[in-house]
Order: sequence, then C-alpha cells, then structure tokens
Amino acid sequence: MLCFQFIFQVNMALLQWVYTGRRKWKGKLEVVALLIIATLCLLIILQTDFQGKKSQATRQYRVLTKPKPEPQSPAVFLSLAPQCERNSSVSKIQGFSTLPKLIQDFLFYQHCRHFPMLLNSPGKCGGPENSADVFLLLVIKSSPSNYERREVLRKTWASERLQSNMWIRTVFISGTTGDGFEKERLNKLLELENREYQDIIQWDFDDTFYNLTLKQILFLEWMERFCPDVHFLLNGDDDIFANTDNMVQYLMGLDDNDGSKHLFIGHLIQNVGPIRHPGSKYYIPVQVHKSDRYPPYCGGGGFLLSRYSSRVIYNMSHSIPLLPIDDVYMGMCLEKAGLAPRSHMGVKTAGLYIPSGQQEANNPCYYREVLLVHRFLPKHIFIMWHEIHREDLDCAKKTTVSVQNEIFMD
Ligand SMILES: *[C@@H]1O[C@H](CO)[C@@H](O)[C@H](O)[C@H]1NC(C)=O
Ligand SMILES: *[C@@H]1O[C@H](CO)[C@@H](O)[C@H](O)[C@H]1NC(C)=O
Ligand SMILES: *[C@@H]1O[C@H](CO)[C@@H](O)[C@H](O)[C@H]1NC(C)=O
Repeated sequence: MLCFQFIFQVNMALLQWVYTGRRKWKGKLEVVALLIIATLCLLIILQTDFQGKKSQATRQYRVLTKPKPEPQSPAVFLSLAPQCERNSSVSKIQGFSTLPKLIQDFLFYQHCRHFPMLLNSPGKCGGPENSADVFLLLVIKSSPSNYERREVLRKTWASERLQSNMWIRTVFISGTTGDGFEKERLNKLLELENREYQDIIQWDFDDTFYNLTLKQILFLEWMERFCPDVHFLLNGDDDIFANTDNMVQYLMGLDDNDGSKHLFIGHLIQNVGPIRHPGSKYYIPVQVHKSDRYPPYCGGGGFLLSRYSSRVIYNMSHSIPLLPIDDVYMGMCLEKAGLAPRSHMGVKTAGLYIPSGQQEANNPCYYREVLLVHRFLPKHIFIMWHEIHREDLDCAKKTTVSVQNEIFMD
C-alpha cells in the first residue's frame, strides 16, 4: 500500500514539476529521489506478484504429479507426461492401407497410455489414506459437452451423499473435444464445473469412441493413486439411470465381500466375437484383434465392481494391448487374471428389457426395483428419480394384488 502511495506522489510531483516549469536543482533532486523510491517499489510489487504466481503453480504441480512412492507402480508424472509420438511403423502391418481411417488412427496411437492431466479432484476420497471411508465411488464417463447430463446426475442418482450410512462419491471422467476456440470453451466449462463441484477428472486426449478404453485405464491409474481403498465402484455412462439407493443396499448385503474380493457384475455378454463388417460402429479388423472370440464381458453402459477387481484389471492392463472397445477390454483383463464377470438381473443396459408398454416404461415401481437401466434423457432421469422417491408411491400393494390374483387363478 505504501508503495502505491509513493507512486502516486511521484506522479503528482512530476506533474507539478512539468506544469509549473520550474527547473531548479532543489526540485530536480526531489524528483530524482522520488523516482528511485518509486522504481524500487515497483520492483517489490512485481517480485511479490511473481512469487505468488510461482507458489500457486508449484502447489498445482505438486497435487497433479506427486508420484506414489511404490516401486511396482510405473513412474508416471501426470502433468509432465510427454507428448506421445505416433507409431509410424504400424503402417507396415499387412492390409493397413485398406483399414478405415479411424482404425488406422487407433493403431497409430494404440501404445499411448499416459496423457497430461488437465483437471483433477485429488481430494475426492479425502486423500488416499482415508479413501476406505468411501463405500461406493460413481465413475461416470462424460464428454465435455454433456453439461446437462452432468447437472441432472448431480441432482439425482449421482448426488454425493450418505446413503444408509455409507458414503457415495462421484467423479466424471473426460478427455477433450473440438478444436481451437470450441475446445478452449469446453475446457473452460469443465474447469468451472470442477471449481464448483470438484468432481471432474480430465486428461488431454481426444474424447472419442475409440479412446474410451484409454479413458478407463487412465481412471484406474488415477484410482490407485487417489482413492485406492474405496470399497466398490459403479462404472457407467452419463445416460444411464442408476438406482444407487438399491446398489448400496445390494452391496451392503454381500456377506463375504467388503470390496476386498472379486466382484464384477452387469449385463453379461458371452459367446460373441469381433464384428468384421467395416461399416459397423463396433468393427474390429484382424489387425486389431486376431482371435474370433471375445471373452465374457459386461455391457459398458454400466457395471459394478469391487476395489479388488478394479486393481486386478489395472494390473492386467499393463500387459494387454488396448482394444478400442472398452467393455470387451475389461473382460480381457478379467480373463487373463482367471476371473469372470457375472450377470445381475437388475442391470438392464442392452435396452432389451425396458418394458415395452408406454405405461410400464413410465412406471416408477419398475425402476424402483432395478439397479441400472441404459439410455435415459436427462429430463426423464430427473422425473424418474423424483417419482421413485415419492412418499405416496405404493408399489408393494400392487404386487400383492397381482400375486393374490395369481393365487386365485390357481
Ligand atoms: C510400433 O508398431 C510396430 C508394428 O506393429 C510394433 O512392432 C512396435 O512394437 C510398435 N512400437 C511401439 C512403441 O508400440
Ligand atoms: C485418441 O487420443 C489421441 C490423443 O488425443 C489422439 O491422437 C488419437 O487420434 C485418438 N484416437 C482415436 C482413435 O480417436
Ligand atoms: C497387482 O500387481 C502387483 C505387482 O505386480 C501385486 O503386488 C499386487 O498384489 C497386484 N494386485 C492385485 C489386486 O492383483
């Protein structure tokens, strides 16, 4: 403050000096002295400002890059991850030139596993050492532009809360989309959201369909570092309806598993293999996956897993080349570890199980019983979440009636 006063005085003195046109020695000396003091002041101000910025930068750097002091985990310096070079020699793979552009692009960058982190919420689980306090971590894949979806989820099934005395926490995982100005604007959006909610993790890679496996692996790596001891995870898309109340109930009801044993449940898909038609969204040529079979896996809309299984998957991922289809890749990691995914009746991600009649599709009693249903519009999620929590919603009565009817029919 004192410095600003000095600068002000110098200016006034200078003005006065110029204005009055007095050029006596005494006046000059005064002005010179004031100028020297003012210069010193400016230097002090700049210096303080610079140090402020520097310490801020160091703090941020520390949070983002602190490596876990564990010899087994690969030494990854998140914010310093070097730009991953494209592997030009993949173009020598037989038939490369006949592959669709997207697949070619995938192969060029298939080996890239580390990307700089743009946003983090390092305190999500209260620090790694306290992360066992989190019972269920909701991990939601969300592209930067899906703002409305995130907003609705925060207000509904993904709200962070104590549910049956168990902590639910939420993170949205994201890459980047768009170019130039649009990209910057979307990054800004995520930054603002993270400032408000501390629930975004963002890495600097293209958030495309074929990069979803990469996103998954980057998350598992993040979890090892920031939330290693959470008990269970729900891994899902941002367009699902997840009955997280039921999930907590279900997970608490497991007698012998508090997250320290294998659990991987969802909509089980088995006895299928890669689609070899180049026109398909899921096209996988032999150059990417030689075998004609996929291991059993759970549909990627959403699945529940234990901390144990997520660690096993992360461990296995180090030695399995990335496959662009993320849910199949999870299955590959499980199979390599000798573990199997399982089916759960309450997970309906294929869309096949959604009741067909208009009445049933909007019947809250149906959604009160499920764990997870795929493909919901944000506004429908909002409505349904409120419907299933209505105090006057009486589903038991209806069931009793229908059961009685059946008895009577017998
Ligand atoms: C680049 O691609 C070639 C051909 O597929 C492969 O042999 C090599 O291991 C790849 N290099 C890296 C760094 O992944
Ligand atoms: C995945 O992200 C990387 C990094 O942004 C990008 O170079 C690559 O093209 C993306 N891959 C696909 C298949 O979209
Ligand atoms: C993961 O791998 C490390 C080192 O290979 C091993 O010590 C650890 O037990 C593994 N964890 C699981 C859950 O398999």
